[in-house]
Amino acid sequence: MKTRLQKKVLLLTHPRKFQSRLLDWFDRTKRDLPWRRTKDPYRIWVSEIMLQQTRVTAVLEYYKRFLRAFPNLRALARADEQDVLAQWSGLGYYRRARMMHAAAKQLANEGQNLPRTSEGLRDLPGVGQYTAAAIASIAFGEPTAVVDGNVERVLLRLGGYGESESLDFWSSAQQLIDANRPGDFNQAMMELGAIVCLPRVPDCKKCPVENWCATRGEHTTIKPVSRRKARLDYVLAADRNGVALVQRAAHSRLMAGMWELPETSAKKSPSPAMQLKHSITNTDYEVRVWKGARPTGSTRIQLSRIEELPLTGLTLKILRRMGLLLHPKS
Ligand code: ADE
Repeated sequence: MKTRLQKKVLLLTHPRKFQSRLLDWFDRTKRDLPWRRTKDPYRIWVSEIMLQQTRVTAVLEYYKRFLRAFPNLRALARADEQDVLAQWSGLGYYRRARMMHAAAKQLANEGQNLPRTSEGLRDLPGVGQYTAAAIASIAFGEPTAVVDGNVERVLLRLGGYGESESLDFWSSAQQLIDANRPGDFNQAMMELGAIVCLPRVPDCKKCPVENWCATRGEHTTIKPVSRRKARLDYVLAADRNGVALVQRAAHSRLMAGMWELPETSAKKSPSPAMQLKHSITNTDYEVRVWKGARPTGSTRIQLSRIEELPLTGLTLKILRRMGLLLHPKS
């Protein structure tokens, strides 16, 4: 039988003081982000889903565009999945978009709005403990702590724990939360990890809660992840008005149903038309694009229609660099 290790819970002295130092710092220095200017639960939901695996700077333009296309829950529920994916094209982790769309349809069918508690939110497709806590605390003021990678690092450093230490992150964060301003407290913890308590070199001089920290920059807690290298070769069969693309299988594990350039295993000419690097998750791809004839099984797509399709992020990047997009998204 498995014995379960008792995990540690971080307890700080003078927690009220910790909260006020952190919140004062957040009030003074927080980034002005569009989802911090609203209490609309739908908008906060969209931001939290987009931010799950993507950096703030990458999310900004997508967030604004997505909300222009689907300004509320009902608009998203009515949309075609292909249109939702087209708006998501380039953000990656497309399952997030599919699940969010499924959740919107489910709520619309039941004539419901977004649930107002983290418990209710967790029943929605694509909403786990983190997202439920983020939406409930930010939009509805529920005093439930969030833990993301940034918060984990902050907690480990505060307690002086090494990475291997089994700290109960959720209970630790829950012990610390300011119940009067839970949404701001959660965002302040995430912001501290994103701006000050950085993975490699924490900027302790700027830290509002250095007095509580057992580590103070003495050691870093995060191991670099090992990365895989791989090569990808694509055929670019384009003319002035169209380009050949293929649609990924509906059952693909990644990017199902999205459109991309046809892959090839053979060199099509002495040198590639373009080479680029592309990184997703833990893989760095060396990508080569070869000019060639339209492969059988591919579909010629009119350039004027191409941006209506959900393109993979890499395809978008290639077509943009080759000057084939008529209305390149920023
Ligand atoms: N990461 C995800 N959501 C966030 C938020 N609301 N504030 C700061 N960082 C975040």
